[in-house]
Amino acid sequence: MSDASRMVSGKKRTEDRLDNALRPRRLDEMTGQERVVENLRILIEAARGRHEPVDHVLLYGPPGLGKTTFAHVIANEMEVNIRITAGPSIERAGDLAAILTHLREGDVLFIDEIHRLGRAVEEVLYPAMEDFALDIVIGKGPSAKNVRLNLPRFTVIGATTRLALLTAPLRARFGAVYRLDFYSLEAMSEIVERAATLINVPIHEDGILEIARRGRGTPRVALRLLKRVRDYAEVRADGDITGDVAAEALDLLEIDPLGLDDIDRRVLLTIIEKFEGGPVGLDTIAASISEESDTIMDVYEPYLLQLGFIERTPRGRVATRLAYDHLGLDDSRPPRQTSLF
Ligand SMILES: Nc1ncnc2c1ncn2[C@@H]1O[C@H](COP(=O)(O)OP(=O)(O)OP(=O)(O)O)[C@@H](O)[C@H]1O
Ligand SMILES: [Mg+2]
Repeated sequence: MSDASRMVSGKKRTEDRLDNALRPRRLDEMTGQERVVENLRILIEAARGRHEPVDHVLLYGPPGLGKTTFAHVIANEMEVNIRITAGPSIERAGDLAAILTHLREGDVLFIDEIHRLGRAVEEVLYPAMEDFALDIVIGKGPSAKNVRLNLPRFTVIGATTRLALLTAPLRARFGAVYRLDFYSLEAMSEIVERAATLINVPIHEDGILEIARRGRGTPRVALRLLKRVRDYAEVRADGDITGDVAAEALDLLEIDPLGLDDIDRRVLLTIIEKFEGGPVGLDTIAASISEESDTIMDVYEPYLLQLGFIERTPRGRVATRLAYDHLGLDDSRPPRQTSLF
């Protein structure tokens, strides 16, 4: 192994450890998402009172808002094991059957990217979720027999960034469905402060705010920014994260005061400059900035929509006046027709 690659993997391991240390383990440690936390508290307490596993839970929302974290928290609160898998890695029905037969009573089966399960795999999952049963065929040809195996009662926690891609029958099998929203500035500040304490970096009130504001309402983003700002503070300053140090570090990373990065700006500029403000289709935007449509739809668009910088119309995406203002551009388009008909 070369020195360079050793350094990279060494750094990756430290960052993984850090991420683990920062991940909340109990409901009490979760900041924000009050509605989801409250609902989960009830779901968990009721299930515990009845000595039953919790009902199947589906969590959806943009990346980095805590779906995986919530899945672990639920398993911890229920004091059960969690088995982790993802839609694309369960290729055949047999793969899922193998996972299911290894579960123990009460276990959580976490299926990330659950919208990417294959049809044949889903067909196995339906009876497993509904009746805790596995239907298998033994033998071939005319002597083949259907056999039903009983499974222990378990909980599926599904996570997806794309609720719309979930088939209706799969969705219907979840007893609890929660949407995760972008975090408020207050919650983001708390998350940054907690993380700074845990990784032992001195941070000032305005340093916290600066990182929270540019973290696009997303804990994962804020934690990443915190680490980069810490690097900057150690190398270019005396180690303390003041408001100025945070702002300088983030400016250098080209993260603007609202948390927009280079790709966000290119999305907006493409709509505005190449397509006269839109409407323009998402695939066209993606092609003109050489990004994947899926990435734009999952990662970039939700935050731009939340800021009110773009709108979705049946004919495509439109940049709003707020986007022009933010980019310091003049919106000389005629006002849009707001016809009632
Ligand atoms: N409510 C919270 N309070 C504190 N930290 C949080 C919270 N939610 C998430 N985090 C932190 O944010 C990071 C990202 O969360 P997580 O991995 O759970 O997101 P995700 O929704 O599963 O993302 P993806 O869709 O990319 O899988 C984690 O490292 C976790 O520590
Ligand atoms: Mg996740």
